[in-house]
Amino acid sequence: MTAISDETGIPEFPMDRAAGCPFDPPPQLRSRQEEGPLTRVRLRDGSTPWLVTRYAEQRALLGDRRVSADVTRPGYPSPARISGGSSIGFILMDDPEHARLRRMVTAPFTVRRVEAMRPDVQKIVDDLIDELLAGPKPVDLVEAFALPVPSLVICRLLGVPYDDHEFFQDNSKVVIKRDATPEQRAGAVGRLAAYLDGLVGDKLAAPGDDLLSRLAERVQAGELSRQEAGQMGVLLLIAGHETTANMIALGTLALLEHPDQFDLLRGAGDPKLVAGAVEELLRYLHITHNGRRRVALEDIEIAGQVIRAGEGLILANDIGNRDPAAFPDPDRLDLRREASHHVAFGFGLHQCLGQSLARMELQVVYGTLYRRIPTLRLATDLERIPFKHDGSVYGVHELPVTW
Ligand code: HEM
Repeated sequence: MTAISDETGIPEFPMDRAAGCPFDPPPQLRSRQEEGPLTRVRLRDGSTPWLVTRYAEQRALLGDRRVSADVTRPGYPSPARISGGSSIGFILMDDPEHARLRRMVTAPFTVRRVEAMRPDVQKIVDDLIDELLAGPKPVDLVEAFALPVPSLVICRLLGVPYDDHEFFQDNSKVVIKRDATPEQRAGAVGRLAAYLDGLVGDKLAAPGDDLLSRLAERVQAGELSRQEAGQMGVLLLIAGHETTANMIALGTLALLEHPDQFDLLRGAGDPKLVAGAVEELLRYLHITHNGRRRVALEDIEIAGQVIRAGEGLILANDIGNRDPAAFPDPDRLDLRREASHHVAFGFGLHQCLGQSLARMELQVVYGTLYRRIPTLRLATDLERIPFKHDGSVYGVHELPVTW
C-alpha cells in the first residue's frame, strides 16, 4: 500500500510496487491515472509536486519550453537538488547550456555511427555467450552477461579501460540509489568525476580514437572546460551501461515468464520482429521508473489545471507507457505490437541521447541470446529474484539462469 502521509490524503511518491506484478507499475499509479492526468503527490522533503500520469500530457509537458530540467531551480522535485546533482552533466540543465554541451557528444550516437558498431557488438555478445556455454551453471546472468555487454560497449566508445569496470559500476550504483544520502551520492559522483578527469588528462597527452579524446581536443581548443569534459564523461559512462544492463536482465526475465513471447524470439531470424520486440519490451518494462523530474518556469494551463510557475512536476513515464489511450490492452506484453511511440527514452529536448545505441545493443542481445541458448530458464523461483526497488533504474540485482 502507498503511504498516505498526512491528513491531506496526498500519497507519497515513489509508490511501492513490491506487492504487485514485478513488471507492472505500482497499482496506485494506475489509480492515479484513472483519477486524472494531473494529481498531487508528496515527496520525502514534504513538497507536493504534480504527478503527470497520462501519455498525452506527458509528451505535451516534456516538449514544452516553459518546463525546466534545471535541478538547481527552487521547486525542482528531487533530493538531487540538495546533493549537487548538476555535477552529472547536461541532463539536469536547460538550454542554451544543455544544447551547447549535448552537441559536443552527439556524433558517435547517430544511427549511422551506431550501425557501424553493430559487428563489434555482435562479437562482444557472441564471445560472452561462448564463455557462458563453456562455464559452470547455474550462472548469474547479470554479472556474466547483462552488465558486461553495455559496459564493454560504452568503454570502447568513450575510451575508458574496461579493467576499471568494478570501480565505475560500484560508484554508478550509488549515484542512482534512491536512498543514498546526499553525502554518499556526492562522494560517488566526486570519485567518478576525478577518475574521468584523469582520463581526459591522459587523452590530452595521448589522444586515441574515442569520445573522451574528442572532448580533450575541445578542452585544448578552449571550447570546453576540463571540469565540463569530466562531468559529461560521468553522465555518459553511467547512462551508457546501467540502463541497458537492466533492460537485458529484466527483459530476459519478462520473456521467461511469458513463454509464448519467448518462443517468438527463440526462433527469430527476422530482424524486424526483433526490433519490434525491443520497442515493446522498452515500453512494457520502462526501467527509469521514478519519473522525469521538471519544474514549471511559467504558469501552464493543461488538462483543466493550472501548473503555477515554480511548481514541480513528476512525469511518470512508466504508467504513461501503460496508458490505454496510447496502447490498447496496455498491460499485455505483445512483441508483435507497434510500440515505438513509447516514452521509455523520454521525450523532448532531453530525449535519450544514447537511444540508437541502446536499441542496437538490445537488438543484438535479444536476437542472439535466446537463439543460441534456446533452453535458457530460471534457476530459481520468481519469488526469490531480488528486484531493484531501491534505485532510480528498475531491474534485478541477480538473475540465476541455467539451460
Ligand atoms: C535501454 C537503455 C536506456 C534507457 C531506457 C534510457 C532512458 C533515458 C531517459 C528516459 C532519458 C531522459 C531523461 C530526462 O528526460 O530527464 C535519457 C536521457 C539520456 N540518456 Fe538514456 N537511456 C538508455 C540508454 C542510454 C545509453 C546507452 C546512453 C549512452 C551514453 C544514454 C545516454 C543518455 C544521455 C546522455 C541522456 C541525457 C540527454 C539530455 O539530457 O539531453 N542512455 N535516457
